[in-house]
Amino acid sequence: MEFKNIKLELNEGVSLIAIDRPKSLNALNLETLKEIDQALEEVKENEEVKVVIITGAGEKAFVAGADISEMKDMNPLKAKEFAEFGQKVFRKIELMKKPVIAAVNGYALGGGCELAMACDIRIASHNAKFGQPEVGLGIIPGFGGTQRLPRIVGVSKAKELIYTGDMIDAEEALRIGLVSKVVEQEKLLEEAYNIAKKIMSKGMIAVRLAKEAINIGINADIETGMSYEAKAFAVCFATEDQKEGMAAFLEKRAPKFVDK
Ligand code: HXC
Repeated sequence: MEFKNIKLELNEGVSLIAIDRPKSLNALNLETLKEIDQALEEVKENEEVKVVIITGAGEKAFVAGADISEMKDMNPLKAKEFAEFGQKVFRKIELMKKPVIAAVNGYALGGGCELAMACDIRIASHNAKFGQPEVGLGIIPGFGGTQRLPRIVGVSKAKELIYTGDMIDAEEALRIGLVSKVVEQEKLLEEAYNIAKKIMSKGMIAVRLAKEAINIGINADIETGMSYEAKAFAVCFATEDQKEGMAAFLEKRAPKFVDK
């Protein structure tokens, strides 16, 4: 499908989705959200795609938030639909059976920070800025920010960021665990691809099961999480990759995983 507001590329097993609305710093209007949703469907179905990277086109912004000019005149019903649709799209990222890496190349504010938080791994360039500035507009985060930010950085820091609307830089985001790595902007995509390649060299069924176990556990009590982990661990032993991985280790050679 042809896209107007995003770019979608496939390079050696890695799908790159770049939000591309430079005039409004890649702000998310409904049309862009629909295109992201469509791109996610395509990468989900495409067996060639093993890992997904999400970034922002240009050097200034990842995504500067939901599109304020589009939200301005929404009535409560439309606002609810908009929030629910964005939540559904971002949840699709979280539930996708493929790892998704956010390469945050500039402003990740409001809906942009929420998009990054729905991804499995977040890395950032030095010029990246994060924040949930919604209260400054008289609204609250609506694409999952009130739910994911406290799970990622803890309740106190999340409340501080959401109540004050403060923007933090990449170093601070690293310090509080909002991102896991900070690199030079020119190296950001290269680093995202390096992480993707490293993941693709492993048993991808195992990676998928690990994602599911972490996602289930983070939202459940520890007994439920442990129980899911043990079952997922057992499932690994029904795969060729487990046999190959362990045989390769014992034979002191590199494994050849087949994703089966
Ligand atoms: C619409 C936006 C936008 C946004 C930037 N622009 N962010 N348009 N929605 N979220 C537009 C500006 O209006 C401007 O358009 C152009 O992009 C360049 O932005 P400037 O402000 O001129 O750039 P700069 O001075 O460098 O400031 C960058 C900035 C600032 C700090 C990122 O643009 C900013 O504060 N943006 C809003 C951030 C924000 O509040 N995000 C949260 C939105 S609420 P023109 O036409 O003047 O050139 C949200 C809710 C999510 O995300 C949940 C919904 C359910």
